[in-house]
Amino acid sequence: MDARLVTLLLLAAAASAPLASPQLDSAFYKTTCPDAEKVIFDVVQNRFKQDPGTAAGLLRLVFHDCFANGCDASILIDPLSNQASEKEAGPNISVRGYDVIEEIKTELEKKCPGVVSCADIVAASARDAVKLTGGPAYEVPMGRRDSLTSNREDADALPGPDIAVPKLIDEFSKQGFSLEEMIAMLAGGHSIGICRCFFIETDAAPIDPEYRKNISAACDGKDSGTVPMDSVSPNVFDGTYFALALAKKMPLTIDRLVGMDPKTEPVLKAMEAKPADFVPLFAKSMEKLSVLKVLTGKDGEIRKTCSEFNNPQASSDTSVIRISSLNPDQMGLSQPGAAKPAVAEARKVAPGGEEEATKRIRNAVKLTKTFVNEAAAKVEGGVVVNKAAQIQTPKPNV
Ligand code: HEM
Repeated sequence: MDARLVTLLLLAAAASAPLASPQLDSAFYKTTCPDAEKVIFDVVQNRFKQDPGTAAGLLRLVFHDCFANGCDASILIDPLSNQASEKEAGPNISVRGYDVIEEIKTELEKKCPGVVSCADIVAASARDAVKLTGGPAYEVPMGRRDSLTSNREDADALPGPDIAVPKLIDEFSKQGFSLEEMIAMLAGGHSIGICRCFFIETDAAPIDPEYRKNISAACDGKDSGTVPMDSVSPNVFDGTYFALALAKKMPLTIDRLVGMDPKTEPVLKAMEAKPADFVPLFAKSMEKLSVLKVLTGKDGEIRKTCSEFNNPQASSDTSVIRISSLNPDQMGLSQPGAAKPAVAEARKVAPGGEEEATKRIRNAVKLTKTFVNEAAAKVEGGVVVNKAAQIQTPKPNV
């Protein structure tokens, strides 16, 4: 056969190939742990019944795991006193759902020890969470393996809440997402869940005056408060995001910015006009997200406990303390990109009480924002919205 024809056929086959990595398979645990997906769903459903916010936590968790160097459960690793991890990074300080993942893992270890990866649990539980809030079903083939590393710097590079729109588009495009896919994920994600007051900057981008009054009253100067992300239907997956973002009635700066940027505003308007079209696009984008840079085959490991590596490097050193159950309200953070993790700081925070801890988190978040804005300023057409914070040295890789 003509060599060019062979090349063309190969290219055509690649273009129509399924999204999943060839080693992922929806029947992956069929013989080794046939009830795996049922166990995952049952725990998610139970927890969702007790607290509908569980779903939002799990959906954000998969985004933060997969977007920072792949869907490998690296976000779940607890930092050690001599070693930072993704969990500690500024953008991850308020991520929730770790306890749900641990509960699922505990159940699965009872049934089929050492078989189901934490990375698969993160991806499948988010899919189930979406379904429970009324969102679309989507395919999550299994077979991911867990990382042997967890670097705080990978998660520090996650987009911040006041990232400039061109930079945001750039970040998603680098991970293989189109503008429409990015908006669909943002809209679906931010149609549920909560936003902590310390992420809110009402003067960083135009905001509806009445809405501003409402959230200012709800936050009432307390950084530790929360407001619903979607004030109309906070626990239901739907397309209300488009109208709210276009009307500047969203708490996060980024959601108001995409409602007015010349590139994203028309996309939001088109999706608002045809909300049914956004649902399958969200599903397709989540399928793509859930297979980003997965580890398969002999790579990585199947962790016994999701929050620690099977052979933690420092396990022989008795002076090394494992920092578990990170609580965002008790966690201090150091400057993004700084060599030393904030674990020592975190321990200093605890005796100072909630006020002190919140102050530290707010400062850390400000530094993260400054850093992101600096990066944004380098992007052509980037809008730097946060003028308040002082300039920090940016990390070289952004
Ligand atoms: C694109 C840039 C994005 C930025 C800058 C961003 C930022 C944020 C921030 C700052 C919060 C508030 C968290 C808190 O107050 O604890 C949040 C919440 C949330 N985000 Fe995003 N996000 C982005 C994209 C996404 C995507 C793509 C998804 C889903 C696939 C998503 C899902 C969520 C969910 C579900 C919540 C609510 C979490 C909860 O209730 O615990 N986000 N996001």
